[in-house]
Amino acid sequence: MAPWGDAKLVFCFLLITCCCTEVLGQMAMDCCLTVKNKTIEQQLIIDYHQQSSGQGCAIDAMILVTRKGKNLCTPADELWVHRVVSHVNQLKKQCKKRFQKLRCKGVKLE
Ligand SMILES: *[C@@H]1O[C@H](CO)[C@@H](O)[C@H](O)[C@H]1NC(C)=O
Repeated sequence: MAPWGDAKLVFCFLLITCCCTEVLGQMAMDCCLTVKNKTIEQQLIIDYHQQSSGQGCAIDAMILVTRKGKNLCTPADELWVHRVVSHVNQLKKQCKKRFQKLRCKGVKLE
């Protein structure tokens, strides 16, 4: 009986941590008010968020997160932005394969 109790507890704990970070992550995300069409090397980007004008923000944008934790507001419809995003997706996929979904929110490993 004891092992199952432990497993449930751990699962519960994981669920709570996941939900909290998810919600906090969303709340901490400010809207981009303008976008900059300044290209940046894809190696510097570890994560991204899509911003939609329908969801409480004024404009559409792609928010690129740099290694240093800076958020860059870029135009969601530019080709170079799509390239960076698919590069990050690639990294995330590789990370998940290696670490079974753990620690892959924002790719820090290459
Ligand atoms: C944004 O930058 C890219 C790459 O430098 C360029 O090809 C594109 O024309 C620019 N778009 C606008 C709207 O200035």
